[in-house]
Amino acid sequence: MNNRTFTMIKPDATEKGYTGGILKMINDAGFRIAAMKMVHLSEKKAGEFYAVHKERPFYGELVEFMSRGPITAAILEKDNAVEDFRKLIGATNPKDAAEGTIRKLYAASIGENAVHGSDSDENAAIEGDFFFSKLEQF
Ligand code: CMP
Repeated sequence: MNNRTFTMIKPDATEKGYTGGILKMINDAGFRIAAMKMVHLSEKKAGEFYAVHKERPFYGELVEFMSRGPITAAILEKDNAVEDFRKLIGATNPKDAAEGTIRKLYAASIGENAVHGSDSDENAAIEGDFFFSKLEQF
């Protein structure tokens, strides 16, 4: 399926009250919400989600950050979802993010970068299934 992606609104953005603003940008960009929930990840669950980054120097910091407070997880649908959503969120480091992107507006740093977006169709499906049962995906 190449018309779905997965996102999380991260703890930094949740703490600052940016959830509504970010969801509005997602809606305005034409994505349909196919699943959504607010979750407080345990360190164990955050570590599992980001297991692909286990060997990176920032892994410990990333797991601590992602389990610091609630996130909003969602599956989004649109033609060309993965690529278009990565354009909407902007570069991983907000210093490099283009004007008008979610990270340019809402992200604080490369670590606390407000939102996650899947990097491939395969990972979008894996990440969506990590949070949502098939009964919760509409
Ligand atoms: P995300 O798109 O969720 O995928 C991996 C995350 O690791 C990334 O966003 C950042 O939050 C984090 N990350 C990537 N590079 C760094 C870095 N150099 N230092 C700290 N965190 C990073």
